Amino acid sequence: MGHSFFSMQRIASRSGLLGRRWYSSATKGGPSIAGVGNIIAVASGKGGVGKSTTAVNIAVALAKEFKLQVGLLDADIYGPSIPTMMNLHAKPEVSEDMKMIPVENHGVRCMSIGFLVDKTHQLFGEVMSALEKMTRGVAWGDLDILVVDMPPGTGDAQLSMSQRLRLSGALIVSTPQDIALIDARRGANMFCKVQVPILGLVENMSCFKCPKCGEKSYIFGEGGAQRTAEEMDMKLLGDVPLEISIRTGSDEGKPIVVSSPNSASAQAYVNVAEKVTQRLNELAEERRMGPEILL
Ligand SMILES: Nc1ncnc2c1ncn2[C@@H]1O[C@H](COP(=O)(O)OP(=O)(O)O)[C@@H](O)[C@H]1O
Ligand SMILES: [Mg+2]
Repeated sequence: MGHSFFSMQRIASRSGLLGRRWYSSATKGGPSIAGVGNIIAVASGKGGVGKSTTAVNIAVALAKEFKLQVGLLDADIYGPSIPTMMNLHAKPEVSEDMKMIPVENHGVRCMSIGFLVDKTHQLFGEVMSALEKMTRGVAWGDLDILVVDMPPGTGDAQLSMSQRLRLSGALIVSTPQDIALIDARRGANMFCKVQVPILGLVENMSCFKCPKCGEKSYIFGEGGAQRTAEEMDMKLLGDVPLEISIRTGSDEGKPIVVSSPNSASAQAYVNVAEKVTQRLNELAEERRMGPEILL
């Protein structure tokens, strides 16, 4: 079987990425962790829209398909789910210089707030000190991208995390439902307030494709994410259907980009991952070209 247009494109872009070392992020002073080129947030205004599923599949796609050094940081204080989704059950070990060693699976180095704390509702100060431990207290090594699964919402914890991490960009995840899109807008506004560029919007659970007859049902409405993206001047980076194998993959710790790499849904995640790398390269370029005053 020959290469499809898409896979040829991917090979071309992969070699482009490998050929150069990224400059540090578009944010002032670069990302907050030494050796880490870019820190991106995967965020949603609302819980349960598929933020963690997206973060996991994008992180694995970046490592597997684009051969990048990738880390995944689970900062969701309300419901850490990376240990389950990445099938990680051992607590991280501590190095000689007292740093936690990330646990690796599917080619991605992971750290979760779930490894550090048992209870989910904590005081603001405790959350921030756990975040500090999970960033500078971790032996991440050199990373091209650290993907952060953010807590849902736009409160003080989210705002403060976005600032402290010095994010290169944020990816917003939403379902097409109006109520989720309102929260997605709120999320995007929060990042704008702290001058974090929005990489784009991912529409999750865009439709349900009947496994028997193939008919598509737009359970949460159709076209909402596209409209919201246009209104807010964001790019719609992709849409992922509601599909049983995505859910079972998450529950079993085997993301769909690993369990069914040739499926349309896995390809949708790979596509989003590619657009993320392109956008980060553009932002790094803009930063290099921009006048001093903007840096
Ligand atoms: N596209 C999808 N198709 C089927 N199930 C999905 C999809 N996206 C997420 N899920 C499932 O929905 C639930 C919530 O997703 P999750 O990623 O944990 O959301 P969040 O992190 O935003 O709370 C999980 O059980 C997950 O497996
Ligand atoms: Mg989650």
